[in-house]
Amino acid sequence: MTDYKALYAQKLVTPEIIAGMVQDGWVFGMDTGTSQTPAIMSAVAERAKNSELKGLKVHTLLDIYPYEFYADEALKGKMTGYSWFSSAGARKAINAGYADFIPGYYRDLPRHIRAEYEYDAFCVEVSPMDSHGYFSLALNGSYCEAMMDKAKRIFIEVNEKQPRCLCGTQIHISQVDAIVEYNHELPVLPPVVLDETSITIGNIIAEQIPDGACIQLGIGAIPDATGMALKAKHDLGIHTEMFTDSMVELIECGAVNNSKKQIHRNKSVTTFAYGSKRIYDFINDNPAVEMLPVDYVNDPAVIARNNNVISINAALEVDLIGQVCAESVGTKHMSGSGGQIDYVRGACQSKGGKSFIAFASTAKGGTISKIKPTLTPGAVCTTSKNDVDYIVTEYGIAHLRGRSAGERARQLIAIAHPDFRDELTFEAKKRGLLV
Ligand code: COA
Repeated sequence: MTDYKALYAQKLVTPEIIAGMVQDGWVFGMDTGTSQTPAIMSAVAERAKNSELKGLKVHTLLDIYPYEFYADEALKGKMTGYSWFSSAGARKAINAGYADFIPGYYRDLPRHIRAEYEYDAFCVEVSPMDSHGYFSLALNGSYCEAMMDKAKRIFIEVNEKQPRCLCGTQIHISQVDAIVEYNHELPVLPPVVLDETSITIGNIIAEQIPDGACIQLGIGAIPDATGMALKAKHDLGIHTEMFTDSMVELIECGAVNNSKKQIHRNKSVTTFAYGSKRIYDFINDNPAVEMLPVDYVNDPAVIARNNNVISINAALEVDLIGQVCAESVGTKHMSGSGGQIDYVRGACQSKGGKSFIAFASTAKGGTISKIKPTLTPGAVCTTSKNDVDYIVTEYGIAHLRGRSAGERARQLIAIAHPDFRDELTFEAKKRGLLV
């Protein structure tokens, strides 16, 4: 029988040894934030800064460590980040012009990775090895299996703080080229402060959600507030892209038990988790959480196999015919499409399902209406007018699916902030939307 501990000892190196293997033009792949490898990336960045090394690329999603390749001008041209869904560091670097983003639906990334890319190294942080030689990829189903398929080398960072996900991706020591040990606390999202507007919106949506519904909550304060407003519900289920704090709250208070789902009954299904330590502790060794690849979890046809799917996502602006921008403020890059459209479509195809796009009616201290006559020039249309279902602000709900352009404009103006309704009505009439 193979002595896995001996194999582990043979493959154990330092981050600097890995950095020393890197050659010009290497492409690195990493999965979502909590599975990324800060020690290896920092050693590679250090070597790139202090050598002739150039043309390195890093493909990431939801990058949550303060990577030097997003912040240090000295790495310009030497090491470049490419993000599929940006958090703060990537956003800043992309808008400053020294990082780039790759458009795409999150659901399609495994397919894109297998069809379009070769990786010189896939880097991933994992939980400690089990007695059979396996490491758990913990908080990621996502696209890591596709990256493993397309990587010439696999470097892992073993962190004893990584939870073990029982129903998730595993990697065997025989697949690994080199191991680094780096024990550190996982990054956490700052606790969301729920303001009055988010709570109002959360309560409005909660009224639309029946007992027994299967929920998806997106990124941002409003999906979180909606989650917290569901504590009095019964028999809810979870089939979601991101596993969030409010979902742990709903499971622990008994509102979610997954008993009414048509698929994966009695289990919560997700493709990655990010939030507080409470989530990571909850997932650890928990057979009731399934962390599955994103091409399965976010497939609208899979989502729609559950009845009464309710998806709740945020947005930055919407125009009067219902085109939703959730990725940019004008030309300023903010994030990515993620799985918003997959859940809008999946929920709408599900028997009894509904999709909600929700946001405060104004931004920037009440000076900007998020309901606009037209999308701001440069704004990305994330959810099209043909897919959109319900739009919600603190002033109510607009039901757009199946409604005419004029009816959409009327309903959206009615849930805009009162200070902007006259101007929106004027613009809608000018466009011939209101007759
Ligand atoms: N015009 C100008 N600025 C705007 C704006 C508008 N219409 N709408 C928002 N902003 C500003 C806010 O003031 C805020 O600025 P600040 O960072 O200086 O405070 C910033 O943009 C972020 O807005 P906020 O409403 O707080 O965002 P959020 O944290 O709730 O996230 C999304 C909203 C849309 C960015 C987020 O949900 C996302 O990334 N979505 C992507 C697609 C998706 O839904 N994926 C599916 C789920 S995982």
